Amino acid sequence: MTTAWHYPQWIAHRGAGKLAPENTLAAFKLGAKHGYRMFECDAKLSADEKVFLLHDETLDRTTNGQGIAGLRPWEDLQSLDAGSWHSPQYAHEPLPLLQDIANFCLQHGFFLNIEIKPSTGLERRTGECVAELAKQLWKHQATPPLLTSFKTESLEGAKATAPALPRGLLVDVWHDEVFNLTRELGCVALVCNHQIWTAERVNLAKQAQLKCLSYTVNHAQDAQRLALLGTDALITDCVDSFTP
Ligand code: G3P
Ligand code: CA
Repeated sequence: MTTAWHYPQWIAHRGAGKLAPENTLAAFKLGAKHGYRMFECDAKLSADEKVFLLHDETLDRTTNGQGIAGLRPWEDLQSLDAGSWHSPQYAHEPLPLLQDIANFCLQHGFFLNIEIKPSTGLERRTGECVAELAKQLWKHQATPPLLTSFKTESLEGAKATAPALPRGLLVDVWHDEVFNLTRELGCVALVCNHQIWTAERVNLAKQAQLKCLSYTVNHAQDAQRLALLGTDALITDCVDSFTP
């Protein structure tokens, strides 16, 4: 396993953006049909510490379940419908385990960005569990998944558990501690809300040996601005309009 940067420039957000139910295997398959070779996803823990994909703290928006997802064991979560909320064609699409998505990516030689999206209070533990599982699943692979998080405790847990796995700090609003945090957390990437990248910040990131990534870039003029700034990759919902 190496931490050299081998990731594509274009990353499909939550599998296929809004074209399919986010964070489901169906979404990843659709993103791949549109030519994407790297995918972003959101990972959290069930009550019995299975790592599965879900963006929100609660089940309500993207499944037929209700309440805090992290309080439910995988036995309950695995039977939920995570597709009907999106459209009838995806009815009964299940929540995937991280392992399911890893199998898909490894089978096809795709790359993965796992955003550690912990339930409240489980920030460090989620980072530890995601990193431990990713280390096992990708142990024979040259290019491991990129682990990212807004939560510094999650990245600390990942670093302590699997220091060789590459990490990226997610930043929505710029602040003075960004580069102190990326250094302390041993990050290889800084993943920003695309609107907060400036030429100065890109230069400072490059000086700090950080790759510069952006989310969620859905307009051509924004993609062009980021390219001119010299950033390295972007995460998009628009897998049907941006050709990677
Ligand atoms: O990982 C980048 C992006 O997905 C972070 O924001 O809210 O879409 O998870 P969010
Ligand atoms: Ca995300």
